[in-house]
Amino acid sequence: MPEIKTNNLTHTFGKGGENALTVLEDIDLTFESGSFNSIIGTSGCGKSTLLKMMAGLFDPSDGAMTLDGTVIHGTDRRRGMVFQQDAVFPWMTVAKNISYGPRLRGASKAQQAEIEAKWTEMVGLKGFEDRWPRELSGGMRKRVDIGRVYANDPDVLLMDEPFGALDAQTKERMQSDLLQTWNQTKKTVIFVTHDIEEAIFLSDKIVVLSSRPGRVHHIEEVSLPRPRTDDMRLTEEFLEIKRRLWAMLDH
Ligand SMILES: Nc1ncnc2c1ncn2[C@@H]1O[C@H](COP(=O)(O)OP(=O)(O)OP(=O)(O)O)[C@@H](O)[C@H]1O
Ligand SMILES: [Mg+2]
Repeated sequence: MPEIKTNNLTHTFGKGGENALTVLEDIDLTFESGSFNSIIGTSGCGKSTLLKMMAGLFDPSDGAMTLDGTVIHGTDRRRGMVFQQDAVFPWMTVAKNISYGPRLRGASKAQQAEIEAKWTEMVGLKGFEDRWPRELSGGMRKRVDIGRVYANDPDVLLMDEPFGALDAQTKERMQSDLLQTWNQTKKTVIFVTHDIEEAIFLSDKIVVLSSRPGRVHHIEEVSLPRPRTDDMRLTEEFLEIKRRLWAMLDH
């Protein structure tokens, strides 16, 4: 069953007003349940806007967006979002950051401990449970962010350039680790990035948006085998997709 669908989705900020700005137009997309999808496009084409609407932070001005056939309206634990800036609470330890959502919903101490143990391990932070965010590197804080969203057990993970601020090596490690976590949980992921190589490495499907107003310019189905390994980045198939997508983006 298709998980997230957009139908003729258009979004105009300040619709009807003098400064109305249409950022997305006629977006028809389907993201299958359990798939890994990326959205790429030039700066300002509406990627974050699209993701925020999927999170339910605001409604599209026209058209609809559905999750399993139900119109998305408002935020919901089923749709977890990792923002570009890390959203780690500085006054909570790694473990308490990770179990924040379940704690808010009244999880028992034992349930919290179980979630903390599972997700600190899954995101590679075992041994750092009692550390404070100020004691972590940027990549580790990103891991906390990802663990915290996963700990809420969402059906859909929305990630807005989560690795954008990381150095190349850390980024590649984070990508491999993310795929491993994804493989174990098979949540639907929608991942926004500027980085073509990152999109190819991670995804089943890449949506290329045109410049503002963002429209669906191209959909690339990536058939590289899984599990993905770093040496695939140098294969002819990978490079061919990279060249094709590169030529499509205005840069
Ligand atoms: N709340 C808002 N009110 C008015 N305009 C907005 C608002 N949020 C975003 N915009 C405009 O919508 C356009 C798309 O913004 P958006 O953040 O979705 O782009 P993006 O594709 O994520 O860009 P980037 O790659 O730089 O992150 C931009 O021109 C931006 O100025
Ligand atoms: Mg953005």
